[in-house]
Amino acid sequence: MHNPIIVALDVPKAKEALELAKELGPVVGAFKIGKQLFVSEGPEVVRKLKETGGKIFLDLKFHDIPNTVAKAVQSAIDMGVDMLTVHTSGGSEMLSAAENASNEKAAKLGIASPLILGVTVLTSMDDNNLAELGIQEGTKRQVVRLAKLAAASGLRGLVCSPQEIKFLREELGSDIDLVTPGIRFDASPSDDQKRTMSPSEAVKAGASWLVIGRPITLAENPRSAAIDILNSIDSEIVPSK
Ligand code: C5P
Repeated sequence: MHNPIIVALDVPKAKEALELAKELGPVVGAFKIGKQLFVSEGPEVVRKLKETGGKIFLDLKFHDIPNTVAKAVQSAIDMGVDMLTVHTSGGSEMLSAAENASNEKAAKLGIASPLILGVTVLTSMDDNNLAELGIQEGTKRQVVRLAKLAAASGLRGLVCSPQEIKFLREELGSDIDLVTPGIRFDASPSDDQKRTMSPSEAVKAGASWLVIGRPITLAENPRSAAIDILNSIDSEIVPSK
């Protein structure tokens, strides 16, 4: 199986991120760099994390005019990024521009095309928040609408909540990568995550990748925590990559 754990390096400084990466590198599948770390440390931290040998997931959720997003995707690939996020609400032209930019850049560099992941409706939004924006159909319908738009625009992956995995698999089939945060063991504190699933439940439901932050990074022994999570997953049902 491929290692489906993406560890969220939600720390403010490069030093802490690199220490975690050195400890976790051999037992996780990728490192997620979010806005906090990237805004504070910039491209240098991406390059240094890449040098540790891990795959890099840059979670900056691009949303802009198609040309600007395409250029940002190519700059991210220059830094060594393997996966990155865009807002699907940017529309089909922006999504295709992002995917095409990734394919073109990868072809030039002779590497596999980095995975552009579409974010649908943020889990911080509920039906009332969508109604404020003039979207009356509710979150589930909006998630399906945006997910289908992303797939039709050529995206090969989506970020989704644990509750969305099953119906997105039903709607979109088995080829698309589904990347899922909100992962907790029953026994572990859920922090601010409200609707969680265990790692094995999420993989059984059809997740391709699991984004896990605090249950690993705040554990007394982050490496053993990651190994325990890996061992809890039935290796036969993890798709190979
Ligand atoms: O610490 P925890 O496991 O909750 O971290 C989850 C990571 O996934 C964080 O980086 C968080 O920003 C991200 N995320 C999330 N829920 C979403 C989208 C992203 O928790 N709906």
